[in-house]
Amino acid sequence: MNNMRTELSFANLAGIETELLAVLAVDTQTSKAPDAKPEPVLLTADEAVKAAAAAVLLSGEYKAGSNETLLLHAPAGLKARRLLLVGVGKQAQATVDKVRNAAGTAVRFTKPRGIRELVFALPEPACASPEIALLPPSPCVRAAVEGALVGDFDPDTYRSDRKDLSVQSFTLVASGNSDQDALKAAFAEGLIVGQSQNFTRSLVNEPGNKLTPTILGQRAAEMAAEVGLGWEVHSTEKLHELKMGAFWSVSQGSEEPPALIVLRYEPEGIIDGPVLGLVGKGITFDTGGISIKPSDNMEKMKYDMAGGAAMIGAMRAIALLKPHVRVIGIVCAAENMPDGKAQKPGDVQTAMSGKTIEIINTDAEGRLVLADGLTYAKQLGATHLIDAATLTGACVVALGYANSGAFSNDDETYAKFDAALATSGEKFWRLPLGEEYAEQIKSDIGDIKNTGGRWGGASTAAEFLKVFAEETPWIHLDIAGMAWVEDSKPYIAKGPSGVAVRSILEWVRSY
Ligand code: BES
Ligand code: MN
Ligand code: ZN
Repeated sequence: MNNMRTELSFANLAGIETELLAVLAVDTQTSKAPDAKPEPVLLTADEAVKAAAAAVLLSGEYKAGSNETLLLHAPAGLKARRLLLVGVGKQAQATVDKVRNAAGTAVRFTKPRGIRELVFALPEPACASPEIALLPPSPCVRAAVEGALVGDFDPDTYRSDRKDLSVQSFTLVASGNSDQDALKAAFAEGLIVGQSQNFTRSLVNEPGNKLTPTILGQRAAEMAAEVGLGWEVHSTEKLHELKMGAFWSVSQGSEEPPALIVLRYEPEGIIDGPVLGLVGKGITFDTGGISIKPSDNMEKMKYDMAGGAAMIGAMRAIALLKPHVRVIGIVCAAENMPDGKAQKPGDVQTAMSGKTIEIINTDAEGRLVLADGLTYAKQLGATHLIDAATLTGACVVALGYANSGAFSNDDETYAKFDAALATSGEKFWRLPLGEEYAEQIKSDIGDIKNTGGRWGGASTAAEFLKVFAEETPWIHLDIAGMAWVEDSKPYIAKGPSGVAVRSILEWVRSY
C-alpha cells in the first residue's frame, strides 16, 4: 500500500530546501468579455515565490486552469530546486475540493519524473478578496493530504517490472502564523481518511481469483484487529441459520463459499442513541450467473465488491476517528457464477425477512445479497441504514461518470448525507423512489421479483431494497459508474476510485 512519508510543517516557503515546491494558482479574471485574458495569481503571500513566477505568469502561457501545471527549474531567490504551479481555475470557484485535486495533481506530476520529495504550500489569499473564504485553512489541510494520498495510488500491483516511483516524502507547509493545533488535527484526520480510501481501492483493485469472498473476509478481519473494531466473518452455515435465502441464492452457484462480514464500532460509554448500519454489496466477481453477461468488458466485474469495500474502508476511518455513535458494518460477499447448482430464472427464494422473491434475472444479484444484509443490520439493532453498491447499469446510463446515484426513504436522514457531501467533495445525485416503480417489481407468483423491466432500472432496484429497509430510515448509494475511474485524470489513476468512503464517513460523523 501507501508508504509515502507525510508531514506538516510551518515554515517560510522561500527558505525550504527541496526537490520540488508546489504552489497553487487561481485565475482572478472576472470579466466574461471574449477578449479578457486570464490573470493568474499565486495563492501565497510569499514575495520571493511570487517574484520567481512573475515572468511566466505575465507571459500568458499559463492560465491557472483546473489542474493545469507548469514547472520552473532553479527558481530565482528560492532554495527549492523546482517550482511547480498547479492551477485551481477561476478564483470564485476555488473550492476545498479543487485543493484536494490539486494536491493529487502535484503528486501525480512528481511521481513519473522520479522526483522523490514534494513540498506543497497550503493556499493563502491571493489578494484581499472575500472569495478566499472558500478556502478555510483546516479543511484545505485535510483535503490536501487526502488528495496527495489518493494521487499516490497506482493500480499496477501485479507488474513484475513495476518501478516504485512513489513520492517518498510529502510535506504540507503552512505559514508560521496559522493556528497550528487546528491544522495538525486536520492533517491527522486527512491521513486517516486518505489511507482508508486507498485501503478500499486496494481491495477493489484485486482480481476475482485473488480476492474471493473468504479472502475479503480475512482482509476485513485483519484490518479490524489492527484498528480495534469488533468483527465476525461467517459463511454458509450462518446464512442457513439466519435463513438468508436471498443472499444464499447468489452464492449457491459458486465453488467459493460466501462471507458475511460484520464489523462493529462500539465507542465506550455510548449505550443509547442511534445505531448506524452500513451495508455493502460484496460480489467479488459477477458473471451474471445463468443469465450470463456478454464477455465484452466482463473482466470489469471484479469491481462489483466496491460497495462492500467502501464500507470496510469507512469502518477503518470510523475506528480511528472515533465518532460518538455506534456503527455496524455488514458486507455480503459472494461470487455470482453459473453452475449446476446455480439458481435459475423463475426460482423463488425466501429472504431472511420472510418476503418471497421471484428470480427473473440472475444478474440482478446485488439487490438479493443486500436484501438480507439490510434485514440483518436491523436485527443487530441498526436504527438508520445506508447501503452502497455497484448496483445497476441503468444508474450509469442516467448519471454517467459524473455523479453516483442516491435514494432515500427519509428526507431528514438524506439531508444529513447531503450536508456531508460538502466536506467529502463527492458528487451524489438524488434519484426518485415511488409507487410506480414499486408496481414494476410486483410478482405474479410471490411478493416481488428481482427485476422491474427495462425502464427506470436504478429506481426499481432501489424500490426492491426499500422493501427490506421497511420503515427504517435508509439511504441507498448506487456507485456503479463512479467506483471505477475509466480514464485517468491528473489527480487520480485509472482504476478503483474508493468513492463513497469519505461521504459515508462524514454522514456517520454527523450523528
Ligand atoms: N454489477 C452489475 C451492475 C453494474 C453494471 C456495475 C455496470 C458496474 C457497471 C449488476 O449486478 C447487474 O448486473 N445489474 C443488471 C441488473 C439487470 C439484470 C436488472 C444491470 O444493470 O444490467
Ligand atoms: Mn449482476
Ligand atoms: Zn453485480
